[in-house]
Amino acid sequence: MSPYEDLIIDHWRNPRNKGTLPDPDVDVTEANVPCGDVLRLQLKVRNGVAEDVRFDGRGCAISMASASLLTEMIKGKRLEELWEMREEELLDALGGVIKPRLKCALLPYRTLRKALEALGVRGRGRA
Ligand code: FES
Repeated sequence: MSPYEDLIIDHWRNPRNKGTLPDPDVDVTEANVPCGDVLRLQLKVRNGVAEDVRFDGRGCAISMASASLLTEMIKGKRLEELWEMREEELLDALGGVIKPRLKCALLPYRTLRKALEALGVRGRGRA
């Protein structure tokens, strides 16, 4: 097994930041329509920084591992910085072994974009 496959399995079996926040500043849900998998993402924001994050939902191993990994990438980052984050950064972190499962791997990314839009983040200098 490649180190990236190990990483995906580890995040799937031991998800980071899974659960819910008591008082989130944003709480969004996104779904992959064809398979019905659902992801909920919550952020606590302070001074333009994603101070805390949680995810919950149901989905395949790739989407849930990707969500777990993404929460680690989100925490402590400025919202503008997150808006600038490209899909490839998440895919690279996942190791690119999930090419045929792109929709699964990017469900968390789409959910993050939705959360940032709900917070009014549209790009550099605007939050
Ligand atoms: Fe639904 Fe992977 S099969 S997100």
